[in-house]
Amino acid sequence: MASINTGKPTRFFSPHPHQNTPCTRTHQIASLALVVATFFFTRLFDHSLGPCSSPYRKSFSAEKSQDDVVLWPLRGYGPYLNLKIYVYDEEEIDGLNLLLYGRNGKISSQACVKGQWGTQVKIHRLLLESTFRTRKKEEADLFFVPSYVKCVRMMGGLNDKEINQTYVKVLSQMPYFRLSGGRNHIFVFPSGAGAHLFKSWSTYLNRSIILTPEGDRTDKRDTSAFSTWKDIIIPGNIDDGMTAHKDRLVDPLPLSRRKYLANYLGRAQGKVGRLQLIDLARQYPDKLESPELKFSGPSKLGRTEYFQHLRNAKFCLAPRGESSWTLRFYESFFVECVPVILSDQVELPFQNVVDYTQISIKWPSTRIGTQLLDYLESIPDKIIEEMIANGRKIRCLWVYAPESESCSAFSGILWELQKKVRQFHQSAETFWLHNGSIVNRDLVEFSKWQSPMPLP
Ligand SMILES: *[C@@H]1O[C@H](CO)[C@@H](O)[C@H](O)[C@H]1NC(C)=O
Ligand SMILES: *[C@@H]1O[C@H](CO)[C@@H](O)[C@H](O)[C@H]1NC(C)=O
Ligand SMILES: *[C@@H]1O[C@H](CO)[C@@H](O)[C@H](O)[C@H]1NC(C)=O
Repeated sequence: MASINTGKPTRFFSPHPHQNTPCTRTHQIASLALVVATFFFTRLFDHSLGPCSSPYRKSFSAEKSQDDVVLWPLRGYGPYLNLKIYVYDEEEIDGLNLLLYGRNGKISSQACVKGQWGTQVKIHRLLLESTFRTRKKEEADLFFVPSYVKCVRMMGGLNDKEINQTYVKVLSQMPYFRLSGGRNHIFVFPSGAGAHLFKSWSTYLNRSIILTPEGDRTDKRDTSAFSTWKDIIIPGNIDDGMTAHKDRLVDPLPLSRRKYLANYLGRAQGKVGRLQLIDLARQYPDKLESPELKFSGPSKLGRTEYFQHLRNAKFCLAPRGESSWTLRFYESFFVECVPVILSDQVELPFQNVVDYTQISIKWPSTRIGTQLLDYLESIPDKIIEEMIANGRKIRCLWVYAPESESCSAFSGILWELQKKVRQFHQSAETFWLHNGSIVNRDLVEFSKWQSPMPLP
């Protein structure tokens, strides 16, 4: 169930937001049940379990406000985080350093941590510092394989062929990968290409846990690299200057001072939806700001300038680009415009705890036009303010803050990972005997397995 508990009945619990449906008896009973359930969960979180509690158990208090907490439901997640994650070290696996710094070791992680794909570096760094990290493989629940290949590839540090070969070489040195068929191994693929960055991913990683902002691969490629049941959607990386607690790059404007009803600020990239928006802005220049932006030159917006424009509308339109996910959706929460998703196949993170109807709008991408502007214009400021306030409560989930912060993208990811932990893994190439010995097809015991491992 959705568990954003604001402490008092709010729109979060209304079954039909934005509609003035008459309050029937069924509605009353349903909302009463929700209130009771919420109360029950809150109690459990407040009073449960003494000694082995971690600070994460308690709850996620969004933006440090007292009444607003994001609770992970007990079912499937447990009452507190209790995880052991092993992080592979570049020294221990031959080739891992290539996936991190390129063939000459020259790509710097400082460069790779910036921009919308910075999650590949941030998640690695957070895990290295994490209290949930273990240095003992034999006790690990999960294994993290670090790699910055999106960045390394863009900077010319490795080509596709090298990336593919290096991954295969790296994996073949990991007995624990072999043991579970990869099922307890975690990989981050931070861009729209998802795991396709590794050409033969479908042979080697199709059982592993993939962290990616892109849950949709219906376009261009014939096989989706995302599986709802094993993979985890993560938020994209927002500019640190916007997510800081104070001295942000730009601050939100009061609603009354915003010049536009809506905006779209991005490159067209020849995408239908984006071109339609640019066209619409030409027809309604005082309602919609959507200049045709470029990669470089005078019509490219600087970092601060971009956010100054973004904050100047009530609604920030987020059409699909090369792929379904778009960073603009996450950025909207920090300039406090209501995001309007115009990307039908989009998948959003942490759907077990976030009710997206309370914080955003999703509009059919086939209906981009005057009707969209009329609709947005019909929404009263009061409702817009409410949606913005709801967004403010949960936006901490989009920020890759240190583990000491109780609500963050990282803690959200840890909860989702916890749900993936299993007592036991099997694969087609592992066998076990009466005494618990794990052996391979040649009856060699696990402790004696030799690298390179034949891969699943
Ligand atoms: C990736 O590398 C493996 C091992 O070298 C090879 O068998 C496979 O064909 C490669 N995949 C592609 C798409 O080149
Ligand atoms: C995973 O890869 C193996 C080996 O190529 C293949 O046999 C299997 O069908 C794949 N599974 C999925 C779910 O794609
Ligand atoms: C388990 O049994 C097998 C077959 O009898 C034997 O080879 C192996 O050493 C045993 N393992 C342990 C841990 O006792």
